[in-house]
Amino acid sequence: MTSPPVSATRIRLCRADEIEPGCALKLEHGDLTLAVYNVDGEFFVTDDACTHGPGSLSEGELYGEVIECNFHGGQFNVRTGGVVAPPCMVPVKTYKAAVEDGAVYIEV
Ligand code: FES
Repeated sequence: MTSPPVSATRIRLCRADEIEPGCALKLEHGDLTLAVYNVDGEFFVTDDACTHGPGSLSEGELYGEVIECNFHGGQFNVRTGGVVAPPCMVPVKTYKAAVEDGAVYIEV
């Protein structure tokens, strides 16, 4: 017997026009604290917490699809979560984001 497919939960985060291109917004949903990024009209979502320390990625500087933590200057690619620059060593978690009817959603 096979298990039924696990269906993802879809969460509406915000209106897309709440985030200017090149900017990020911090949002909380349940246990999640997320950073939502607008990269030239394409939206990406990661955990807000920097994997290196107490930095909040939504308060960093967004350069294209690279977010620079404002605490020690470490960088992550917001599309992949991969580390771009030290001192960060551990990738940041990303979420599958979609825009529908002017709102940003993720699946968890
Ligand atoms: S806390 Fe983000 S780079 Fe150190």
